[in-house]
Amino acid sequence: LNRTYFSGIQLVSLDPIKQFGNWFDEATKCPEIGEPNAMCLATATNDGRPSARMVLLKGYSSEGFRFFTNYESRKGCELESNPHACLVFYWEPLNRQIRIEGTVERIPYQSSCDYFHSRPKSSQIGAVVSRQSTIVPNRDYLRQKNAELEEKYKDTEVPMPDYWGGYIIKPVSIEFWQGQTNRLHDRIVFTKLKDGESELGEFQHAAEGGWVYQRLSP
Ligand SMILES: Cc1cc2nc3c(=O)[nH]c(=O)nc-3n(C[C@H](O)[C@H](O)[C@H](O)COP(=O)(O)O)c2cc1C
Repeated sequence: LNRTYFSGIQLVSLDPIKQFGNWFDEATKCPEIGEPNAMCLATATNDGRPSARMVLLKGYSSEGFRFFTNYESRKGCELESNPHACLVFYWEPLNRQIRIEGTVERIPYQSSCDYFHSRPKSSQIGAVVSRQSTIVPNRDYLRQKNAELEEKYKDTEVPMPDYWGGYIIKPVSIEFWQGQTNRLHDRIVFTKLKDGESELGEFQHAAEGGWVYQRLSP
């Protein structure tokens, strides 16, 4: 990869997915970061009321960023009626933030199944026990249901519930934020060119893979 120097921020690629990979790898190697793949996922209802929570990144490529959840959870319901979503990573020891905006799609059923069965059996049972985001009477209710299912699937594979699976968020914008001690923090935002779009705006620069980038004021 060619190193691309912006004054103040050092990016290794003008392809924002590769750039993401570079920062993600550095976060993964950073001993002070316990869960580099933890990210805040923001969704919104059809009428624009937002909600946010942490989820774990479980893969990324030029196609987008994948995570797994319950399709009938609050986030799932919001995503089904309004596919626009945002992700935020914050790696404090590195003074870095990445913001991703895009639209989600369910990943293919088989891919969800493969991942589901790659997890420990206890996690699989947990996914069946938890009708995520619904009200439960008490903790014992969940414990009992868990015990019943452990017994039921003692010698057999846990079937993946149809309300469980993955989403891929297909990015249209990715912003790299690098904190600086002098408060002149660096913000480089890549945006995907829309089909047929090729004109660059003022201060907008060509990037790779159908992206352009610009610098934002901190
Ligand atoms: C670090 C961290 C990682 C999490 N990862 C996931 C995840 O990958 N998938 C998921 O459904 N919930 C995950 N959760 C739980 C969610 O934050 C949330 O409580 C749950 O998904 C219900 O959200 P909802 O009611 O908005 O749908 C995680 C929580 C934390 C703190």
